[in-house]
Amino acid sequence: MRVDRLFLVGPRGSGKTTVARKLAEALGVDWADADEEVMAQAGMSIRAIFEQEGEAGFRRRESAVLRQLVERGCFVIATGGGVVGKPENRALMKATGRVAWLTADVETLWRRISGDGTTAERRPALSVGGREEVAQIVAQREPLYREVADRIVDTTGRSLEEVVADVLAWLNGTQFPVISDQ
Ligand code: S3P
Repeated sequence: MRVDRLFLVGPRGSGKTTVARKLAEALGVDWADADEEVMAQAGMSIRAIFEQEGEAGFRRRESAVLRQLVERGCFVIATGGGVVGKPENRALMKATGRVAWLTADVETLWRRISGDGTTAERRPALSVGGREEVAQIVAQREPLYREVADRIVDTTGRSLEEVVADVLAWLNGTQFPVISDQ
């Protein structure tokens, strides 16, 4: 099987979307943002999906979109922060690509989240809890990110260019895309 896909996972504020866009530009490949795709298909914001269908509804949509993006042959996929919650999503990512886990310390994540104008529409749960909630979610999900990650990229105090260079160096080192004999 030829594995030629890169998933970016990590908490809100870790830079998945921005890094995905830059990486795809550098590699000359197509990319997608799973949250954007969910919103386009639903015709409403993530906040509205949470309100109307609950988190379970959003998670169903998120898993379906992940499968579609893989089937579509998308090369770089920026996922939503909670994608690792479902075993089926983790299995799909492991089976069909490489996974880079973008991290940052809680202070940095919180600064980025609170400075992002799209937070209210894209990140329903995080508008209220502040740093505490960020820390809690990161701690909860850390084992799941670790489980899927082929590469951990700490973005704390690093520029976008530095982060992208790090991921590219890793991809080159692994002679990405990878050919395996399965
Ligand atoms: C979520 C993160 C969001 C979005 C949704 C749920 C989460 O994605 O999928 O609001 O549970 O952490 P980003 O990580 O792109 O903000």
